[in-house]
Amino acid sequence: MTRERFNWILMGLIVGIALAMLGVTASQSADLPTGQALVGARIAQLKKAGGAMQFFGQYDGSDQTAAAAAAKILDDVAADLVSWFPEGSGPGGPGIEKTRALPAIWANFADFEAKAKAMDDAVGLMTVAAASNDVAAIKTAMGEVGKACKACHEAYRGPEEE
Ligand code: HEC
Repeated sequence: MTRERFNWILMGLIVGIALAMLGVTASQSADLPTGQALVGARIAQLKKAGGAMQFFGQYDGSDQTAAAAAAKILDDVAADLVSWFPEGSGPGGPGIEKTRALPAIWANFADFEAKAKAMDDAVGLMTVAAASNDVAAIKTAMGEVGKACKACHEAYRGPEEE
């Protein structure tokens, strides 16, 4: 390969990466509220995940459509979770009066992301299990998802207030 050709390829790569990064920032900041409203929004989403887990806890295999819908809720929450915790959305952040999110999240953000990824991986098992309506596999996946919720809460969620 000529030196010139190599330079063009390199330039293309750099521009591509820069564009990809722009895309990521744009999609992360899209439509997210700020301050206490953001805390309310993320809690509402996490409660939906809690509801989906409750559904699977009682699931007897009789409604595959509902099982697929519950798996989809978990999948959506897992996909967006990290984006609901931008810098400054912890205790003492602008406009934030109340949150159980611990400052440790932003001191260990890579680990926080890893814990969200672990949830996403476990939810992958659930998606497969729900798609085949395999109750035993659903219960196994539920155990894995539950462990992932718990691991993050133990490290990064403070005690309930009031
Ligand atoms: C990567 C970390 C992480 C994972 C994974 C995670 N959570 Fe949470 N969750 C949090 C944090 C942090 C809060 C506190 C948010 C706040 O108060 O601002 C929270 C809050 C909640 C709440 C709101 C109740 C409350 O007031 O604290 C529910 C319900 C909840 N999580 C359920 C779940 C369920 C169910 C799962 C798994 C399917 C899960 N979470 C996975 C970090 C996580």
